Amino acid sequence: MKNIVVLVSGGGTNLQALIDAQESGRINGGRITCVISAKPDAYALERAKKHGIPSRVISRKEYDDVAAYSKAILDALNEEKADLVVYAGFMTILDEQVVNSYPYRMMNVHPALIPSFCGKGYYGLRVHEEVLKKGVRITGATVHFVTEVCDGGPIILQKAVEVQSGDTPGILQKRVMEQAEWKILPQAVSLFCEDKLEVRDGIVYIKN
Ligand code: GAR
Repeated sequence: MKNIVVLVSGGGTNLQALIDAQESGRINGGRITCVISAKPDAYALERAKKHGIPSRVISRKEYDDVAAYSKAILDALNEEKADLVVYAGFMTILDEQVVNSYPYRMMNVHPALIPSFCGKGYYGLRVHEEVLKKGVRITGATVHFVTEVCDGGPIILQKAVEVQSGDTPGILQKRVMEQAEWKILPQAVSLFCEDKLEVRDGIVYIKN
């Protein structure tokens, strides 16, 4: 059984999707052993508590810089003996000391079809605002491995979602979550825990 540690900052609907998948037997070969929140008041912490999952708060505000915060997160991941680290709405940047310690063992869900609408400054609702400003007809979500390049790591799964006339950023965000994020994140986590993901030359191959 692989130890899955989930990093959160906010509402935690993606964490909930992972918990639901786990409870209905859709995460094979792993279990969520710890939730780490960057914010003490994140609702994600309530979700973990309700389901008996241990949690920790490592508040970004209590650290002077990215390096000090990254060290604290790295120490916690090592203590938790994490096999897989999942960024589920985790909005805080960590430096290369963390990424290099968990190569191709950290994944992130992003609310757009990478390489569109991604990178520094594209997070949460802002992504959907930019999608609507540009007028694209199709958006979606991506689960990818985390590397030192923001939103630039190898792509594991993607799912497309239609933009509809009359969409607001909030309406679009909800559709992208329901139709894409909450589906592909548990799928990607399960594939990892079943040892079905292989990365060669920056490309993810899914084994049968
Ligand atoms: C989700 O849409 C997630 O994809 C996005 O923030 C939201 C968090 O919601 N993450 C990013 O934008 C990361 N760049 P949640 O807390 O309800 O899972």
